[in-house]
Amino acid sequence: MGNVYVLDHPLIQHKLTYIRNKKTGTKEFRELVDEVAGLMAFEITRDMPTEEITIETPVTEAKTKILSGKKIGLVPILRAGLGMVDGILRLIPAAKVGHVGLYRDPNTLKPVEYYIKLPSDIEERELIVIDPMLATGGSANDAIHSLKKRGANNIKLMCLIAAPEGVEVIQKDHPDVDIYLAALDEKLNEKGYIVPGLGDAGDRLFGTK
Ligand code: PRP
Ligand code: URA
Repeated sequence: MGNVYVLDHPLIQHKLTYIRNKKTGTKEFRELVDEVAGLMAFEITRDMPTEEITIETPVTEAKTKILSGKKIGLVPILRAGLGMVDGILRLIPAAKVGHVGLYRDPNTLKPVEYYIKLPSDIEERELIVIDPMLATGGSANDAIHSLKKRGANNIKLMCLIAAPEGVEVIQKDHPDVDIYLAALDEKLNEKGYIVPGLGDAGDRLFGTK
């Protein structure tokens, strides 16, 4: 079964409080999601392998480290996942970015895929699937199935907030996928919203309703 990591760094938790607050407007919400995504990426990449190389500093020769592992691919789930991409790219600027377009049918709560475009070498990359919300788990679950069908074999899932129901779905269907969260909330309500959650992530990010 995949691991679930709740990243409880004080800065992440502090900013998440403002993200959750309904008084936080679109501009500030967007900035905070971007910042938290960067902070989470910092934590998620902690186990990246490195190798030692020799360079010349202006003073002397030095053995120092560079990253040596697989190349990274970011896969935001449209729309709301887009809000987390730039914050991660600031830390991992060489990452390639694929997109999976999914929306949740408001009546069935089932995900509907409407777009997919991925880097050609996803089977050689460590992919980080990004979506602020893991609610029923349907969207992330379908996105991960889509990636695996196309050859992906090394996937992490990064969300701001999850419900236990969503975590359970991913752990059952994708035991190879570790999940990284800023918070694991209490439950889903009857409309499939995470409680206490932050409301509709896409609408709050893009100012739609
Ligand atoms: C939201 C969110 C996730 C999905 C989570 O997207 O960004 O993709 O719901 O719910 P689930 O775990 O129950 O599938 P939404 O369908 O509202 O689309 P949007 O990002 O285009 O607003
Ligand atoms: N999608 C959202 O944007 N928010 C939720 O709480 C659940 C699904």
